[in-house]
Amino acid sequence: MPKCIIDGREVEFKPGEKIIEVAKRVGSVIPYFCYHPGLTVVAQCRMCAVEIEKMPKLQTACSTPATEGMVIHTKSPKTLQNQKATMEFLLINHPLDCPICDKSGECDLQDYSFDHGDAYSRYTEERRTYLDLDMGPVIKKNMNRCIHCTRCIRFGSEIAGIHEMVAVKRGNYTEITTIDGLPLQTGYAGNYADICPTGSLGLKDFRFKKRVWFLKKTPSVCEGCSTGCNLEIHQEDNVIYRCVPRENLEINRYWLCDEGRFNFNYLHDKDRIIHPTLFQDGAGQVSEWKEAFNLSKKTLAVQKTVILVGSDLTQEEGRLLQQFLPEHFPKADVYHFGTPGISSSAQDDSEDQILKRKSKTSNLHGFEKLGFKSFPGFPKGCQAVLVIRGGRAILPDLKGIPAVGLGVFSQSQASSFVAVLPGTAFAEKDGTVMNYQGVEQKLRQAILPPGQCKVLSEILMMWTHQKSSFGAA
Ligand code: SF4
Ligand code: SF4
Ligand code: FES
Repeated sequence: MPKCIIDGREVEFKPGEKIIEVAKRVGSVIPYFCYHPGLTVVAQCRMCAVEIEKMPKLQTACSTPATEGMVIHTKSPKTLQNQKATMEFLLINHPLDCPICDKSGECDLQDYSFDHGDAYSRYTEERRTYLDLDMGPVIKKNMNRCIHCTRCIRFGSEIAGIHEMVAVKRGNYTEITTIDGLPLQTGYAGNYADICPTGSLGLKDFRFKKRVWFLKKTPSVCEGCSTGCNLEIHQEDNVIYRCVPRENLEINRYWLCDEGRFNFNYLHDKDRIIHPTLFQDGAGQVSEWKEAFNLSKKTLAVQKTVILVGSDLTQEEGRLLQQFLPEHFPKADVYHFGTPGISSSAQDDSEDQILKRKSKTSNLHGFEKLGFKSFPGFPKGCQAVLVIRGGRAILPDLKGIPAVGLGVFSQSQASSFVAVLPGTAFAEKDGTVMNYQGVEQKLRQAILPPGQCKVLSEILMMWTHQKSSFGAA
């Protein structure tokens, strides 16, 4: 392997590797704005410029490949002076917005201003300001904070596959906007907020809700489809405020789709059933667990029962059910369900050639591997159905058959049910899911279940030990 010297240390690098990547690997911090490992390199902010021996001028570390014997100084007086000058330039029009900016606490501009900038500015002119056009339901734009790094423009054309962000006007008047001022079209708009190094593009869903330094972070996996994008759940006091992508170069690289990013909102939906509930004529009534078990067992104590198990459950839950169901419902037909029209992994293609898959549950492939059969429709004479789901699997038409729900349901979904035994959703439990590539990944519990919701193993244990007034189911 060729070697170069960074800040006096001999470092090996792969041919073609850029200085910024080599330096990062060995812990030499080079500040940057326009560079992003998932986007093309444009070398336009000049923040990453470093001194290289035998070169008369500073070179941008994001675009300059390391070469054999190269001697690089990331902390030399010339390098530091450039960083100060670049920060002064970028901040001449930047408002003193940090106290009310959602990016505050995780803003590259704020951090680099503190670490590499100067406390003084020579700028005395009036600052440039913009009127902000709406950018659609996902992103709130604040152009006063923009430093024209163009990451957003490159994300649109290179990753989202839609050239919707553009820079208009020139020089001091440059402005980032959408073509013809249209709302953003991509289903990946949340990534604009992640990659923007300032608070210019923020998530509307997160706006003014929580200062980022209060958030506790749990690494987990998206349950929105069979891709299984890696994400981080950010919560405080048992409330999830946002999900952000976690880098995984084999699966989602640096990105999340909006469907997966905002999927967590149903966990806190006021409509979610979080207590054992009995239904009569579509109206739900909170009950004790005992009554809900009694009515469920009575409903399911018939000759012909179908059990539908959502492929949004984990492998552990699937295995548990494979032990529990034959013992308690020896005559019942058991099937998996999840996405209308996608009954097997063979039908689970890419939905958009970016990340999304057609299966809208995370564990279709795992459930097939466990041996669950797909739901072919209700057999003639079916008298009762037990639906077990994690919250994502899309309910089929129950055709008026008396049904019991176990897991995560909303009032509107369950109004045709007889009883619901409330369970846990993806962020409220640990478990394993298998994505479409056959990769097994871990869901991690980030928050406690609300109300009286319980994990599946606990509900099944209660079911087993609960003495029924109607005899064994
Ligand atoms: S809006 Fe953000 S990402 Fe886009 S150019 Fe401005 S600072 Fe960069
Ligand atoms: S592509 Fe699928 S797994 Fe990835 S974020 Fe979107 S819904 Fe979630
Ligand atoms: S990060 Fe290298 S020039 Fe912007």
